[in-house]
Amino acid sequence: ERGLRVADRGFLNTAVIESSITYIDGEKGVLRYRGYPIEQLAEKSTFIECAYLLIYGALPTRSQLVHFEREVLLHGIMHADAKEFFGAFRYDAHPMAMLTSAFAYLGSYYGEANPSLQGQTLYTKCAKGDSEAFQNMDKQIFRLIGKATTLAAMAYRVRQGREFVVPPTGMSYTESFLYQLDHLSPTDSFSASPSTSPSPYKPHPVLARALDILFILHADHEMNASSTTVLQTGSSLPDPYSAVAAGCASLYGPLHGGANEAVIRMLVAIGSPENVPAYLAAVKRREKVLSGFGHRVYKTSDPRSFIIRKIADEVFAVTGPDPLLDTAMALHDAALKDEYFVSRKLGPNVDFWSGLIYRAMGFPMDFFPVLFVVPRVVGWVAHWRQMMLSPEGVKIWRPKQIYIGPSERPYVAVDERE
Ligand code: SDX
Repeated sequence: ERGLRVADRGFLNTAVIESSITYIDGEKGVLRYRGYPIEQLAEKSTFIECAYLLIYGALPTRSQLVHFEREVLLHGIMHADAKEFFGAFRYDAHPMAMLTSAFAYLGSYYGEANPSLQGQTLYTKCAKGDSEAFQNMDKQIFRLIGKATTLAAMAYRVRQGREFVVPPTGMSYTESFLYQLDHLSPTDSFSASPSTSPSPYKPHPVLARALDILFILHADHEMNASSTTVLQTGSSLPDPYSAVAAGCASLYGPLHGGANEAVIRMLVAIGSPENVPAYLAAVKRREKVLSGFGHRVYKTSDPRSFIIRKIADEVFAVTGPDPLLDTAMALHDAALKDEYFVSRKLGPNVDFWSGLIYRAMGFPMDFFPVLFVVPRVVGWVAHWRQMMLSPEGVKIWRPKQIYIGPSERPYVAVDERE
């Protein structure tokens, strides 16, 4: 193929879409959702309001916000038995594997003969301006955002042999999620027998707000690997549940959403601040990775990491400091002064501190990436909706390659091969 070149490994310099959803300036450490600075949204907004903003492009009026949150919570309620979604999994399956499959199952769960055809039908009708199709698209968006918490909570409880609880109305999106988990403080003891009656559980206000802000910070990040995966998949017009399942699989990886779990495993392996120099030496020998550091776009600092660092202190004031915090701070401070990392513009990203907060709040380590998926479903569906409604229509994503394999050669029968 003349004139073709591999678009810089990992799409380093390739723009795949035009988007008006999220803006990042990696040199200045700027992040805005539909033009609003992330610092202001983290301080003044709520996750469900940011979800509306990312999907529909404007801050909602009060009545729009009330309607949106009610629809999301209503469409989040599941009347299925958790075994229908997770019965095939071993008790110790990773919740990200459970969630990926559950999202894919949602298409069939709604009784569609061939769920993948939903996407094409939806797209065709929306392109004709069919108002019922737009309502159907919104319903699928409400279901995906609402079910993200329900499926996550189901995956969490089914592993503990605990029945699923339907949250009471009147709670916020994030409080409702925490209620369904029915677990927050590390002192909670899990009921061995399935707890049939809803627990008298009320999320701790400081921790509920901390999680809501963490959800705001994780809601979208333009063309990260998982959002790109959702659009790559969505471009062949399957149902949106299948596209979200693909995005969930991408986020699972330790280079992406799995990094918050990898950071804790790294800190546990380092063990104490005294061992930090040896670990950094191993990283410089490329024997180890400094999880939670580095970013494809941010070459100064990830603005989310500063906000999360502050949240960590507020959470630790309630739960008590995490014993790994000293090691994390020693690692953070040493890396920021080390020429190897400074010369490569490697700073803490969104995942460096978040795992410590989730641990302090009592979540099991393998659940941390799930706490990334729940809010990121909003970014995924925002980008999916933007693609489905794009004026120029949906074109299947099919990049080229540069062939470097053998030239033509004749087939050789198996007994004549040496
Ligand atoms: C997220 O894209 C997004 O927006 C993602 C995200 C989102 O909100 O969706 O922000 C969320 O995924 C944050 C990133 C979480 N991942 C990690 O913390 C894993 C550790 N980080 C690295 O794997 C890495 O920094 C990436 C994957 C995040 C970015 O990789 P790039 O852009 O491909 O960078 P690179 O590998 O080309 O690194 C450039 C140099 C290399 O050194 P040289 O070969 O040039 O000598 O920096 C080095 C890398 O070896 N490097 C690291 C490093 N990250 C980069 N060296 C040690 N430790 C690291 N963490």
